[in-house]
Formats: sequence, C-alpha cells, structure tokens
Amino acid sequence: MTDRLVVEGPVRLAGTVSLPGDKSISHRAVLLASRASGPSVLQNLSPGADLAASRRLGERIGATFRPHDADPGTGSPRFSGMAVTPGTGEPGPVRVDCSNSGTTMRLGAGLLAGRPGVTVLDGDGSLVTRPMQRVVDPLLEMGGDVRSREGHPPLTVRGQSLEGTEVRIGVASAQVKGAVLLAALDAAGPTAVMEATPTRAHTEEMLAKVGVKIQVERGCIRVSPGPTQGLNLKVPADPSAAAFWMVAACITPGSRIRAESVYLGPGRDGFVGILKRMGANLVAEADAAGEFTLEAAHGELGATVIDDPLEIAACIDELPALLVAAAMAEGTTVLRNASELRVKETDRIAAMATLLRAFAVDVEEFEDGLAVHGSHLSATRVDSGGDHRIAMAAAVAGMAASGRSEIATWEAVAVSDPGFEKVLQDVRIPG
Ligand code: S3P
Repeated sequence: MTDRLVVEGPVRLAGTVSLPGDKSISHRAVLLASRASGPSVLQNLSPGADLAASRRLGERIGATFRPHDADPGTGSPRFSGMAVTPGTGEPGPVRVDCSNSGTTMRLGAGLLAGRPGVTVLDGDGSLVTRPMQRVVDPLLEMGGDVRSREGHPPLTVRGQSLEGTEVRIGVASAQVKGAVLLAALDAAGPTAVMEATPTRAHTEEMLAKVGVKIQVERGCIRVSPGPTQGLNLKVPADPSAAAFWMVAACITPGSRIRAESVYLGPGRDGFVGILKRMGANLVAEADAAGEFTLEAAHGELGATVIDDPLEIAACIDELPALLVAAAMAEGTTVLRNASELRVKETDRIAAMATLLRAFAVDVEEFEDGLAVHGSHLSATRVDSGGDHRIAMAAAVAGMAASGRSEIATWEAVAVSDPGFEKVLQDVRIPG
C-alpha cells in the first residue's frame, strides 16, 4: 500500500467496480461465529484492516480462524473467506488491540460483558479519543462491569452475570444497539432494546439467522438469551464503498459505473435517495438474492438539504462521499443535525471542511454540519488525517478536479478498502 495517491483529473470511468464485502456485516459475522455453538464458513469478508481487530477479539474467547477460499479459481485478491471454529480453543491475550475499529471495541464490549474473564480493549491514537460511555452505560444497566477511562478507551470488561432488562439507546448508534443485543444473548432473561432513531439493522438480521428468538416491532427489539448457531454466509458488497464510486461516476464527465451485489437494507440506503434527490443518474435494482445492482452515470447535480436524523443515520458513513457530490452540484447543499460525524475516525465535519476548501470549494462549518456552495473542484494536495473515508473522499474529489491531486496518508484506506487504487486503475479509461 502506497502512502500517497496521485490522481490526474478529470478521469473518465467505465465498467463494473469490484467492491469489498460489507464491513459492518463482516464484523458481526466474525464475532457471532466466534461465540457460536458450531463451526462457520464466512465468505467475501471485508478485506479491511478493521476486520483483523474483530478476529483478535474472537481469538480472545478461544475461536480459531483459517482461510477458506471456497472458490480459489476466482483469482480475486479481494476474495476473503474464513472457516471459524468457535471459542473452544486457548483464549487469546487479555489485552485486545482494536486498532482503528470502533465497531470491534463497542460490539466486543457487549460480546464479552456476560462471559467469564477480564479483557482490556484498547485502540490506536484515533480510537482512544472516541466516546465509549455510550456503550458502557447500557451494559452497566444490564448488570455488567465495564469501565472506561473517563468515557474513552481502554475499556476493561469483567464478565458478569447479566440481567435481562429494558434498555433505551439514547444515541443513534448501531454499534451501541449491537453491543446490547450481543450482551443480551448471555443475560439471565429476555432483553428489550428501544432505539429512538432507527440505525442499521445488521445485528437483528443476523441474530434471526443464527437461531435467536428475536422480535422487532416499532423501534423495540426483544431478544431471548441462548446459544447461537454457526453461520454459512457470503457477505454482500459494502454500500459505503459503493457510494464513493457512484459519486465518482456522477461527477466525472463521460463516466458510467456499475456495482453488483450491494447490501441496501435498513439504515444503509440513505445515500441512494439523497443522490437521486440531487438529480443523479443513478439506478438501484434488486437482484434475485435481494442484493442490489447500482449503476450511475455522469450528469448535472443540484444542491439538497440533509437534516433529517433518520436519513442521516442511514447515510452516516456515506456523508464524506455525498459532500464531494455537493461540491459539484448547482447551489448550496446544507447538512445539519450531523454532529455524530465529529466523533468518527476523525472529526469528519472539520476534515471535510478542510478537504473541500483545499479543493477551492466555498464551505461554511457549523457545529452540527456544513454548507457547501457547489461550483467546481481544483486539483490540490491534501492529507487524509489517517481516516479511510476522508482518503477516499479526497480521491473522488481528485478524480473530478482538472490537474494533479495528491492525497497523503493514503494508506489509511486499508482500514476498509485496500483495493480502492486497483479498482481505479481497472475502471479508468486511459487518455
Ligand atoms: C457501524 C455503525 C456506525 C458506522 C460505523 C459502523 C456498525 O457507527 O459509522 O462505521 O457496524 O454498527 P455508529 O453506530 O456509532 O453510528
């Protein structure tokens, strides 16, 4: 992985992009397989570095992993299969390095809260600044013993017997909801989880698949404790990775890009509606497996307002890509009620303001969002700040800007999509 990406824009893109397996589903698959009552086979797992952190968490409870290439003939470097034997092996070290992965740390705290043993969950320079009280509090309500350092990592999780109880999730976070649901599997009785703002539903969807008694009704999820079966799962393509390519096609003249087998379930489809509202040439069609083929082509975009908390929860990871689209749209796009962006891998409101200004876009920054006065993008040099989605947003901006753009700290892209640069080489039309 190079530490710098150079893009000579404007590029013209054509063809079908090869996308990584969905990161959110992959984390849950690895964690559920680790605590299952039987073996699992997981295919098309996210190749991102974040997944290694969830694997370490699985190893902590004694799970073992070996490569499982169900289709070695594909020759695809992005194909990533794993056979998982659940936690009957030697438990891994007490201290688990969650690296850059907030999902591993938060879901991991839930997974460990009701299981024997003490574990310390730590992370890299970005993760140790991120808020963890949001996951500590509900686990305490369930009778757990989880401690943070003044609301931040490291988290010390001492496995306890947990109560089945009613838990209200105060912050729109699928990671917190997921942590409570995983903890509920080891509780003494049923748990009811109430979400004020619906977020991505992967944990609920996957628990239903592994034999858990679960009921979802009007913002309330009821789950009964019990063992979980092994999974045989092929992870669909990551919509968050797809979004960057869809935006790239929309803003680079002469481009048309397709993405296949993309997950577009609850909490992940927001970017499609927003791009359509901006007038994008974007079509999403369900395939026989219930996954989606997306196709986007270049065209004029218009500004929009993104301020509905429900919609924001459904596109939280795609906002950096959408803000690049806004930079090329006619008019002023306003994003509000999005202060969650300030506590992602970086402060993404500040990071996107800096990035877009470097590309000569007029931007106003608010505590909870941005106003982007769309016009054009001018080639520049920027730094990802170590945030994978900021790196990819910069790459897409560079694709639309005339001239040579350079993105430093490009290696951050490996957190979710180490194959991004190769895809660019594959779909870029020379000349
Ligand atoms: C994720 C949920 C989101 C998202 C993150 C992955 C998940 O975080 O930003 O990249 O897999 O549950 P929050 O749930 O904290 O909003």
